[in-house]
Amino acid sequence: MISDKIRDILNEQINKEFYSAYLYLSMSAYFSEIGLYGFSNWAKVQSKEEIDHGMILFEYVLGRNSQVHLAQISMPTFDMSSPIEVFEQIYQHERSITSSIDSVANTSDNECDLATRNFIDWYLKEQIEEEASVSRIIAKLKAFGQEKSALFLIDRELSNREYSYPEY
Ligand code: FEO
Repeated sequence: MISDKIRDILNEQINKEFYSAYLYLSMSAYFSEIGLYGFSNWAKVQSKEEIDHGMILFEYVLGRNSQVHLAQISMPTFDMSSPIEVFEQIYQHERSITSSIDSVANTSDNECDLATRNFIDWYLKEQIEEEASVSRIIAKLKAFGQEKSALFLIDRELSNREYSYPEY
């Protein structure tokens, strides 16, 4: 069993992960509409991973004999002016998710819930990877993204991303 505080913060995190999935899916649609199918693929794979993040939390809450409360998922909005703008927003979004995961870790510490503290460690590591991979794409876009031929090559590289279930 977990405390009400932990239950609530984990339910909030489930909502944020599903919102992330929605956000990436809408970005995938945007990239597809402007002909950047590799970027679209990257965002679609990310969307699937976010669903997995939500589902791992979902199973954890149920597995601790607690309650899942699924709240409304907000409509995703973002500035569609250019690929780099979108990726800058992705970076800010992931930073906010990192801070949200930090809050889960801190609350687990305060509640002396070592199992949840241990469980959330994987998410802390995952956030480091997500921020790093988005930063690398931003760096490439900043360096070469103005050139159409370079954008084409970055798009081709991002088309190689494949979905796999997270190694939780
Ligand atoms: Fe599930 Fe992108 O954090």
